[in-house]
Amino acid sequence: MSVGPAVVLIGPMGVGKSTVGRLLAEHLGVGYRDTDDDIVEAEGRTIAEIFVDEGEPAFRAKEKAAVRAALATHEGVVALGGGAVMDPDTRALLAGQRVVYLSMEVEEAVRRTGLNAARPLLAVNPRKQWRELMEARRHLYEEVATAVVATDGRSPHEVTQDVLDAL
Ligand code: S3P
Repeated sequence: MSVGPAVVLIGPMGVGKSTVGRLLAEHLGVGYRDTDDDIVEAEGRTIAEIFVDEGEPAFRAKEKAAVRAALATHEGVVALGGGAVMDPDTRALLAGQRVVYLSMEVEEAVRRTGLNAARPLLAVNPRKQWRELMEARRHLYEEVATAVVATDGRSPHEVTQDVLDAL
């Protein structure tokens, strides 16, 4: 039997992967791991600082390595950064895993995240950015997901219950 996560959470920034991931881990009695946190810890810098210092491609390389490590070693709940699924090797690694896509509509995303300097991809014109991000990524989330849970208008506790029901 190979070691692997119980559940992988994917979906856009601000959809609630961290909050729901922690609640879910508590319910399942397992640990929680977030690949963004792993990168920040390893680098001693915030994600925004990495983007500014080294650019997005360098961040994506670090993210790819962090995702690979987390999927290989963690047996609990793993939440991936919103852009991790853009990498084809990462998508291949997700095949055969239990992957839950937390989804939301563009307007919900704009409402929840707003203009957000801490999230480099939303530092200017978030509505336009969100439309483009969703357009580019929705099909990638759907491609690797084994279940989809819509989060629009729902609380983290409700979403967690929906995820448990979907497992
Ligand atoms: C990103 C999502 C962020 C973080 C980085 C880029 C993206 O993670 O990895 O800012 O490309 O969607 P969260 O989804 O955890 O906010």
